[in-house]
Order: sequence, then structure tokens, then C-alpha cells
Amino acid sequence: MGKDVIIACDFSSAGETLAFLDKFGAEKPFVKIGMELFYAAGAPVIKEIKKRGHKVFLDLKLHDIPNTVKSAMAVLAAYDIDMVNVHAAGTADMMRAAKAGLESGGKKAPLLIAVTQLTSTSEERMNKELLISGSINDVIIKYAQNTKAAGLDGVVCSPLEAKMVKEACGGDFITVTPGVRFAGGDTNDQARFTTPEMAKEIGSDYIVVGRPVTKAADPVAAYLKCCGEFID
Ligand code: C5P
Repeated sequence: MGKDVIIACDFSSAGETLAFLDKFGAEKPFVKIGMELFYAAGAPVIKEIKKRGHKVFLDLKLHDIPNTVKSAMAVLAAYDIDMVNVHAAGTADMMRAAKAGLESGGKKAPLLIAVTQLTSTSEERMNKELLISGSINDVIIKYAQNTKAAGLDGVVCSPLEAKMVKEACGGDFITVTPGVRFAGGDTNDQARFTTPEMAKEIGSDYIVVGRPVTKAADPVAAYLKCCGEFID
């Protein structure tokens, strides 16, 4: 499995996204399309980004009753994407349904991963607002084990949690880790984050980086700095 840096293209239009990707020239970063861009620009922007030679992680975090998620995944199976996800909080049944929907297309299914706990959620909020008691690490491990039992490829978690997830679920179980910040950079709304270099040491397979690259004065230099710290 290749280690890679995925850029979270949290833009509100196809035009803005494509202009951003134009800056990268022959470099073709792995791109994450989230809710904002997908709701604004839909399938055509995925098609265009794939045509340009990028891999695409469609980050829609599906979470609904199993039958609805299965049907939605059957639709997404027709898109030429490389990775897609659900919320593990939807239960193992929902995750199994997601996998079945994704595989119903008949062609090679993209990687299917599940969000454990959003990296913006602190243990305190999880305990007090969501009424999930105990340690956030125990919840993440349980959700990761449910994800594995449902036959998915891996989870989205903080880089800080990648090691314990691998210990609980095996080295081949993929960890995709947002919540990455350069040393001394702005943390924004991320509560559980680390640097690309630390993410590499802890053992993440893919880091997802948004604002530290998209809002940088020189996004290409920021992206290459991430790759330098995480991959090389
Ligand atoms: O700008 P920033 O680097 O914080 O972007 C992180 C990206 O990763 C966002 O697109 C966010 O939706 C996504 N993400 C996250 N935490 C998760 C799952 C996804 O931050 N647990």
C-alpha cells in the first residue's frame, strides 16, 4: 500500500477547484472531494479531476439506514473513484450494506473506509454532548474493530490514533488521517492533530491535508513540504 498525501479540496465550485489544481502542473496529487464541492458541482467535477489524472477520495461520510446507504453506494459505484467512506457510528450492519452496494457495480470497487470519531471531536464533548462514556481511544478502537468485522478496508482517524488502530486491527488495515498541521501552524477547528512527520512515525497510510495547503501562500510548496515530511 502506497503512502500518500491527500489534499482536501474544500472549495465551493468546480472553477475554484480546477484553478487550484492547475497550479500543480505535472504533479497530480490525490484529491479529496467533500460535501461542499460535491453538493456544489456533483459528478461532473469528479469526472474532470479524474480525466486530469488525479486519484479521488469521495468523502461524503454516508450515515443512514442500511438499505439507503446500500442504494446510495450502488450509485457511487458507477463513479470512477478510488476511495469512499461512511460513518462507523452507523453500525456494522450499515457498513456491510455499504460494501454490498459498492460491489454491486460489477467492477473493481474503490477502497471503502469508515470514520471513527471526527478529529474535531474531543473526548470531553464525546462524553458530555454525545453521552458516549469512557475514553475516546476505546471508542475509536471499538469502531475500528466493527469496521474490520464488516469487511471494510480501513478507517479515518487522527494520526495520533493510527498506531493503536493498527495494533487492534492489523498492519494491512488502512488508516486515513486528517487533522494534520505544520509545526507552529494554525490549528483551526482540529482538536486531535499532528505534523506530517509525526503522522509518518506513528504509521498513517494516508494523510489528509486541507487548509495548511489550500490556504497557503504557495500551495504547491506546502504540498511538497507535506510529501517531504510524510513520504520521503
Ligand atoms: O483543513 P483541514 O486540514 O482541517 O481539512 C481536513 C479535512 O478532513 C476536511 O475536509 C474534513 O472534512 C476532513 N475530515 C476531518 N476529520 C475526520 C474526517 C474527515 O477533518 N475525522
